[in-house]
Amino acid sequence: MSILDKLKSGITTSSPEETYSVAKELAHVLGDEAVLTLEGDLGAGKTTFVKGLAQAWSIQEAVTSPTFNIYNLYQGDRQLAHMDAYRLEESPEIWDELMLEELIYPPFCLAIEWPSKLPFIPWPITHNLHLTAKGEKRTITLENE
Ligand SMILES: Nc1ncnc2c1ncn2[C@@H]1O[C@H](COP(=O)(O)OP(=O)(O)OP(=O)(O)O)[C@@H](O)[C@H]1O
Ligand SMILES: [Mg+2]
Repeated sequence: MSILDKLKSGITTSSPEETYSVAKELAHVLGDEAVLTLEGDLGAGKTTFVKGLAQAWSIQEAVTSPTFNIYNLYQGDRQLAHMDAYRLEESPEIWDELMLEELIYPPFCLAIEWPSKLPFIPWPITHNLHLTAKGEKRTITLENE
């Protein structure tokens, strides 16, 4: 079964390391303009998933949650823009000023936590992921492609 089919059925992981592995597997099948939305409650594992993506592209820098600066840009085998829109709700005008289109070039991956708080996304969403937590387990499901 391909990683996309497995994700459509939902993959349950039991540790952050297992979540990194799922992210790495997905990373290898993404197109050059990948836009991932990551939905799920606080602590569901969204940032952990993005850390796995960073590993896949040999990004050496530590991936940390960009809650206060909205996004972080990393360069590895491809560009990874990690965005957390949680606090954007308070000042949506910042989003217009980001000019993301001028910062990001293919092959890129834009990974967005809390996408519902963004007024718009300047590229089509390619993968919409939902994460849920139950105890130590996290279930990651691909809602569409
Ligand atoms: N199977 C698992 N997969 C991912 N994370 C796990 C797992 N089991 C435990 N954890 C822990 O759950 C936490 C997930 O936190 P993370 O920052 O990734 O969540 P988040 O969805 O980004 O939350 P927020 O909305 O606050 O940004 C981490 O502390 C991680 O170590
Ligand atoms: Mg997070």
